[in-house]
Amino acid sequence: MRMKVCQQLLSRAFSHRGASCAFRTGSVTLDTGRWRCAPSAPLCSSSAQDRKSHPSMLKHLRAKIRSTGPISVSEYMREVLTNPVAGYYVRKMMLGAEGDFITSPEISQVFGELLGVWMVSEWMAAGRPGRLQLVELGPGKGSLMADVLRVFGQLRSVVAGASVSVHLVEVSPVLSRVQAETLTGTGGQEASREPDPADPAYRRGETAAGVPVSWYRHLEDVPAGFSIFVAHEFFDALPVHKFQRTEKGWREVLVDLDPSDPGRLRLVLSPGPTLASSSLVQAGEGRSHVEVCPEGGAIVQLLARRIQQQGGAALIADYGHDGTKTDTFRGFKGHRLHDVLSDPGGADLTADVDFSFLRRMAGGGVACLGPVSQRVFLKNMGGDARMQVLLRNCSDPSSRKQLIRSYDLLTSPAHMGERFLFLCLLAPGRLTAPPTPTGLKLDRKSPAPLPVAGFSELRFS
Ligand SMILES: C[S@@+](CC[C@H](N)C(=O)[O-])C[C@H]1O[C@@H](n2cnc3c(N)ncnc32)[C@H](O)[C@@H]1O
Repeated sequence: MRMKVCQQLLSRAFSHRGASCAFRTGSVTLDTGRWRCAPSAPLCSSSAQDRKSHPSMLKHLRAKIRSTGPISVSEYMREVLTNPVAGYYVRKMMLGAEGDFITSPEISQVFGELLGVWMVSEWMAAGRPGRLQLVELGPGKGSLMADVLRVFGQLRSVVAGASVSVHLVEVSPVLSRVQAETLTGTGGQEASREPDPADPAYRRGETAAGVPVSWYRHLEDVPAGFSIFVAHEFFDALPVHKFQRTEKGWREVLVDLDPSDPGRLRLVLSPGPTLASSSLVQAGEGRSHVEVCPEGGAIVQLLARRIQQQGGAALIADYGHDGTKTDTFRGFKGHRLHDVLSDPGGADLTADVDFSFLRRMAGGGVACLGPVSQRVFLKNMGGDARMQVLLRNCSDPSSRKQLIRSYDLLTSPAHMGERFLFLCLLAPGRLTAPPTPTGLKLDRKSPAPLPVAGFSELRFS
């Protein structure tokens, strides 16, 4: 029954002629554009360091290490990626052919459209609340949300009962302007006042269809209320601590100055346990090297608390593993693997997401499903059927080739299909059968729990 609802949503959303055969790969050459889940770089790789380091960031890091001693990899990642002046995300446009990597929403519109259907379907499953906040963490160029909103436009009659608003959590002022351009056609309105705890949005705008859009630096700032959250390639950008098992116990990997050349950085092990190594490595951990992302854990805890108290759901998609991988910290520059210590601030840094850790951090107050692979999720969501519609409406041979190639990139096990995973957090009662109305005597057994789109197979009859 529930899967039928999802099928109907799909055919209503995608039968629309205007949405046919549009894809955005544009100048990105799909054959050469690299996503970021390539093989890991070796742990200590500073010897290949080049001399073109982003000067102010390297200077800042050297001064910091000189005054406080070696810093954790987590602190290094935080400074390099999100330092308010010279951080990689704060300063640079990194997405696309001219940047350092491409992501699924930039490869194919189908990705964001299917996530849009998921959001509508979870809103319906929650009993169609009158207010719906679509919240995205780390929205990049805003392409995913643009595709989601197009689906909402096509399902206008279904979502008509809800007042929809968009809330974007974005640390980068550069990217927030790009997102405003994508979603509102203008740069939006930048807050020109001092930060105000009563109104923490730093930018506001409105889409052509009149949907209000607000930007925040932190998830905590998003107003309370029923929300469907999405985070695609967000958690992998959060800082990780790295720990190495030694004969003397767990030691933390730190970033230090190279004594043979203080202009260079190197990775070292802490001489004794650190606060992080004593508190973040799980008792009974079997691996010899682990990466832990406490910031990711805190964000998942906050998502879980919000969903438990205010209703809603969250979909987390990223490349990652289920608590099995070891050294995944790596850099990307110009679509190639890059030494993590070289050119700090000028290259992307990332680590695979540990989904078992996120599930643990979500706690028992919400229901968790997954992780399932991107291939399974997109196919369960009706991706193949959506592709057939797009191809039916597309006669240009090179566009057809591009469509097929982009969908293959997203779903093929050889590309992104198996390495990217989807996890969802759901309100506590979401997976239990709806209660039988009191006073009613039914012959039939009570209905089965409603399946969650993407996490169970969707059959097209
Ligand atoms: C790898 S990009 C992914 C972009 C987009 N989700 C996509 O799939 O194309 C990471 C995004 O998260 C943002 N970001 C990184 N760290 C952040 C943080 N600590 N708080 C908020 N946003 C962050 C970046 O600026 C960027 O928009």
